[in-house]
Amino acid sequence: MNKNNKAYVTTPIYYVNDVPHIGHAYTTIIADTMARYYRLKGRETFFLTGTDEHGQKIEEAAKSRGREPQEYADEISGKFKALWDEFDISYDKFIRTTDADHKKGVQKAFKAMFDKGDIYKGEYEDYYCVSCETFFTETQLMDGEGCPDCGKPTKLVKEESYFFKLSDYQEKLLKWYSDDEQCVLPKGKKNEVISFVKQGLRDLSITRTSFDWGVKLPEEMNDPKHVMYVWLDALLNYVTALGYGTDEKNMDFWPATMHLVGKDILRFHAIYWPAFLMSLDLPLPTHVAAHGWWTRNGEKMSKSKGNVVNPKEIADAYGLENFRYFLLREVPFGQDGDFSQKALIDRINSDLGNEFGNLLNRIIGMSGKYSEGNVTSKDVKALHVKELDEVEAILENIEDRLNLLQTNRYLEDLWKVLTIANGAITAHEPWSKIKNGDKDGALAVVGLVANILARVTVLVSPVMPKTATKIASALGFEVNTESYTKLIEKKELLSDFVIEKIPPLFPRIEEEALETPEPAPKPEKKKKKEKKAESIITIDQFFETSLKIGTILEAEEVPKSDRLLKLKVDLGEEKTRQVIAGIKEYYAPADLVNTQVCIVANLKPAKIMGMLSEGMLLAAKDKNGLSLMRPEAPKKSGTAVG
Ligand code: MSP
Repeated sequence: MNKNNKAYVTTPIYYVNDVPHIGHAYTTIIADTMARYYRLKGRETFFLTGTDEHGQKIEEAAKSRGREPQEYADEISGKFKALWDEFDISYDKFIRTTDADHKKGVQKAFKAMFDKGDIYKGEYEDYYCVSCETFFTETQLMDGEGCPDCGKPTKLVKEESYFFKLSDYQEKLLKWYSDDEQCVLPKGKKNEVISFVKQGLRDLSITRTSFDWGVKLPEEMNDPKHVMYVWLDALLNYVTALGYGTDEKNMDFWPATMHLVGKDILRFHAIYWPAFLMSLDLPLPTHVAAHGWWTRNGEKMSKSKGNVVNPKEIADAYGLENFRYFLLREVPFGQDGDFSQKALIDRINSDLGNEFGNLLNRIIGMSGKYSEGNVTSKDVKALHVKELDEVEAILENIEDRLNLLQTNRYLEDLWKVLTIANGAITAHEPWSKIKNGDKDGALAVVGLVANILARVTVLVSPVMPKTATKIASALGFEVNTESYTKLIEKKELLSDFVIEKIPPLFPRIEEEALETPEPAPKPEKKKKKEKKAESIITIDQFFETSLKIGTILEAEEVPKSDRLLKLKVDLGEEKTRQVIAGIKEYYAPADLVNTQVCIVANLKPAKIMGMLSEGMLLAAKDKNGLSLMRPEAPKKSGTAVG
């Protein structure tokens, strides 16, 4: 944490060659949630977003439209800013890399790194991908010419260049990763970064001479033909926005609490950026957190396929806050998620309508009937200690989840709390109590539910700020640091209040109301997903499958595969088995070693990516992720399952 308990949250700055889509909205909404959460806790918070406007890609995009880069950047940057304003994103600064202060800060940083001896002049000869604005060596290319990240053709570049001595920082970076458990989140992504760095870091070319849409070198360097590499320019926005190199009055927000990025740009943020910061003698960020990608019907979104999700259309059709809830609830942070309007509608109707909204409607109805809207906490502690304890037990560690960006688990736990409240109504039947003349008892149930709802409302407010404000005002309080302290930290109960009737917050959406037709899934995909009808088998047929407990002795990533891990598994046989398993997105190799799994042991061996696989792990997968099937207590390797 930085000095004075301040918090600093950032989004990537977005390239101005494209208009905002769901991917940009996702990063920005998570960052906005974190900024609102820190403010709720009373931390002075600075939230930065903006646009990345220099570099060859933008220069070419402008040229192809017959426009000047600056004028073109002005237009697209304006679109991002307008969307974030419309989405009520609570940013404190919107930076543009064409801002004069930013450019001065970048030049100052370049000079400081040069004076430190970390920059030298040389000649660059390798391949460049304009789309990713990234350099590659010949051996890294796909099929001899394609960019290994995006697949587009690369260009051989040979030019004079200044280099940053990235190789000098390899050991220091590895030390950072090992000393600071949570510096890169989530853990699986951190492990990928570590293996990349362990393979060795080459010095990084940080200037270009073949075009000029970029920040010039500082004048005292006397080398006017060079412009800065766009990633050096862009990454430095995180400190120039606080005044680095100009008016440093906001630098006490540094280091960043949370840099939010997509998985595709983690390398820049978890390797280059901390190395630049070390060179500048600036502290390193607390967390660099990488989220996964949104796909549509399992496919990458692209303009040419016409399947790009427009966040404004979705927010207009289904409600901005419902959309925010969906984005944060639907996918585990770090994993890819598939967007469909059906999944969004299901979440709105079930989680929001049936569970959250309905609870409010029930206490509005009951308190109206029993006490003209008066709600009291008078007997809640005496009569409902069990439910209150259950709620406390869930809330105890819930914020750890948010602090580690596990937004889906955070919301899942909040919804467990709502289930306790709904369960209390069913179990205690306040209507029967009224019938039997126990009005105090009935009002205690209403009071309990109102208090549970109030706590959920405070904690859900970073995700759904406007909805939370409406519910809180119906319950007679305001969502702010004061109510957070009272209801969450001190676990106090609401003061007595008269409930205000409000219209239903989450009206049911019928699926036929889909505004935009869903693009049809690819036929092969559909086929794959189609479930076989379940057929009855005999016990003998079942016993044809040999299931055994195995102990994982070694686990490593399969190079060039996003999905596969190579495991050595002990099945109590003379020789260990090699199993190639598609679980890389869900488990870090180190976390698997010395754990037990259930293996199909008599499966015909198969070759996967040229490697022999001699068995299959049992696992259960749903939209929340994948879990390996394991014995409840340790068993000897090779123990039969059945
Ligand atoms: N300009 C750089 C960032 C510089 S930060 C110092 C950049 N810009 S970008 O506009 O291409 O991408 C910005 C962010 O959008 C990235 O975090 C990227 O992961 C995210 N997304 C782009 N498409 C996405 C999806 N389909 N799904 C989720 N996020 C994705 O990179």
